[in-house]
Amino acid sequence: MKLAILSRAPRSYSTQRLRSAALNRGHDVKVLNTLRFGIDLAGDEPDLQFRGKPLSDYDAVLPRIGNSITYYGTAVVRQFEQMDVYTPNTAAGISNSRDKLRATQILSRHNIGMPATTFVRDRADVIPAIERVGGAPVVIKLLEGTQGIGVILAPEIKVAEAIIETLQSTRQNVLIQRFIKESKGRDIRALVVGDRVVAAMRRTAKGDEFRSNVHRGGSVERVELDPEYERVAVRAAQIMGLKVAGVDMLEADAGPLVMEVNSSPGLEGIEAATKLDVAGAIIDYIDNQVAFPHIDVRERLSVSTGYGVAEIVVHGDGAFIGKTLAESGLRERDITVLTLHRGTNVIPNPAARNILEADDRLLCFGRLEEMRSMIPDRKTRRSKVKKLPKHPINET
Ligand SMILES: Nc1ncnc2c1ncn2[C@@H]1O[C@H](COP(=O)(O)OP(=O)(O)O)[C@@H](O)[C@H]1O
Ligand SMILES: [Mg+2]
Repeated sequence: MKLAILSRAPRSYSTQRLRSAALNRGHDVKVLNTLRFGIDLAGDEPDLQFRGKPLSDYDAVLPRIGNSITYYGTAVVRQFEQMDVYTPNTAAGISNSRDKLRATQILSRHNIGMPATTFVRDRADVIPAIERVGGAPVVIKLLEGTQGIGVILAPEIKVAEAIIETLQSTRQNVLIQRFIKESKGRDIRALVVGDRVVAAMRRTAKGDEFRSNVHRGGSVERVELDPEYERVAVRAAQIMGLKVAGVDMLEADAGPLVMEVNSSPGLEGIEAATKLDVAGAIIDYIDNQVAFPHIDVRERLSVSTGYGVAEIVVHGDGAFIGKTLAESGLRERDITVLTLHRGTNVIPNPAARNILEADDRLLCFGRLEEMRSMIPDRKTRRSKVKKLPKHPINET
């Protein structure tokens, strides 16, 4: 395949490794400076210029977009998407994961464990917010921090309040997060490629530092991941729309808590710690995917009148329970079940003999009119899913 690596650091360890992994496999690979692209929008078809000249044809692009150029970088990636060039990480995935608030919001509806997090603006709401996540010591984070910069542990509520007010007065948005004490300055970085974890390491903070980032002096060691950690890492990356991702998780008493999903994970630390060929795994994955171009299902479906995708939930007292998919009558109503979600398991293309259980969720394709009566109404769903607040708050 012909692959473009988008990077402003051609000599960095990660870029070099990816480039040579591609070359070793006989691919044609170029490292292109993200900031040298031009996006021309006047022509008949989406196109890209590079260093002032029309870009040649590529099969795939591997974006390594740094934090400082998110806007421009994602615009370039989006243009490649318009041109049907395969990218493992989409522009939407990159921007969603980069903003810690946006990422947390997206993950929060998918049963992914995360440290209790809150976001407030008004001074009057700060102290109640800190108390809601468990009080001091409490973690304060800038929305777009990286390498541990912009992550602060405030020992007392008063100090936390002062830090938050100071940051907000300089127009910085901050997250307030429960401090996961039992993780003791350690965390797990899982490198996800496609639908599996190809390498994982534990990072341990230096001395009495609580941030385990390698840039903050943290040390790394290879770790055999518990299946639960593996599952959560893959799910988190998938939900964010990233096929190449570094998922950071804290080891809490209750299991893995996802802190962030990185769209351009560094390879040096993890390859050193695990002695695994992570770069090779990434290149092989892209090579395999090039044959399956990304299709925006919603966009394609919106043109086929009357048909669409909907999620049907099997109610506890409903007629579907105990029946097989074949007996459910869905097929006769022109409804195809694409996936069956049961708890945290996902069964793609479920067989007709699958027996339905209460709370199963069926992702279906069919006539919207036919499915309308079966989709749960918003209100019931909300009251069912929503956890009761610890301290009931009077909102009115
Ligand atoms: N809620 C928390 N509880 C305990 N430690 C945390 C918490 N949040 C972050 N940390 C520590 O701080 C480090 C940096 O936080 P993270 O959110 O990943 O920011 P960055 O994007 O700067 O890496 C983490 O790797 C972890 O060691
Ligand atoms: Mg991090």
